[in-house]
Amino acid sequence: MQTSFVITTKEPNWPPDPSKPSARLPGQATLRKATLEGGRHSPQILRLADAEAVGEQVAHWLLASRLADPRLPLGLATGRTMEPVYAALAHQFAQLSAAERQRVRQQWCSFNLDEYVGLSPRDPRSFAATMATQLVTPLQLEAESVLLPRGDGADPAAEAMRYASLLASKGGLGLQILGIGANGHVGFNEPPCGPEVVCRCVALTASTRDANAFAFGGDPAQVPDQAISLGLNEILNARRILLVATGGAKAEVLRRAFEQSPTADLPASWLQGHPEVTVVADAAALGG
Ligand code: GLP
Repeated sequence: MQTSFVITTKEPNWPPDPSKPSARLPGQATLRKATLEGGRHSPQILRLADAEAVGEQVAHWLLASRLADPRLPLGLATGRTMEPVYAALAHQFAQLSAAERQRVRQQWCSFNLDEYVGLSPRDPRSFAATMATQLVTPLQLEAESVLLPRGDGADPAAEAMRYASLLASKGGLGLQILGIGANGHVGFNEPPCGPEVVCRCVALTASTRDANAFAFGGDPAQVPDQAISLGLNEILNARRILLVATGGAKAEVLRRAFEQSPTADLPASWLQGHPEVTVVADAAALGG
């Protein structure tokens, strides 16, 4: 099936109808083999004016998923693209009724994509610290309901396996939000990367360390050279994926991810094998 990169403004079919049970419930999940056996799919594309509008929309779906269908964990991402999402989430959360806020807190369970190897959760540069600041504190969540791999363990490979097992025990991911790296990575699945890889310890490329240096005083040498990342397998087994992209710097990689045939050289291109992907992007990321 030929995939085409068609811009639509159709409202995606989300949040799900709570009266319709999920196909699979926690404990019943079996990981599908993530391949293109099911064909290539065109993503639904929601084009919004700017990063702020993108943040508002994604935050709305995150909250809606916790209120309407919280049975499976959320998959969360970090990075600059996500900052307006968490800012909007905090704002929208504050507008909810007390009863709704309580439900969101009680029903919260999220797994972040990745964490740097060597950083403890108390290190302000860690993704755990980012989530504490941007999510746990404003929503007053139980810290235990916002899960990330531990970056400071003695055995990162064992930690990756523990994290993957914990996610599997919860039934896998429900709604996954993803950013996209300039080299096409999702999570920290750097190219080359096939769709079958699972949670593991990965080496970060020089370009990714450059891109993330902003959180390390601008010095790429300070960025850890390894991370623990969920693999494409866990990501592609999410029930629904929101790929979030803002800014003209993402336009080229976003276009290639859905225009060209899926390839290990551009890990995000494997998202074409997933039937429920929505790209939520601003005009700049969609080429203006
Ligand atoms: C990273 C993260 C990803 C993120 C991507 C894009 O390094 N591991 O989860 O989506 O890069 O980052 P940004 O949003 O800062 O451009």
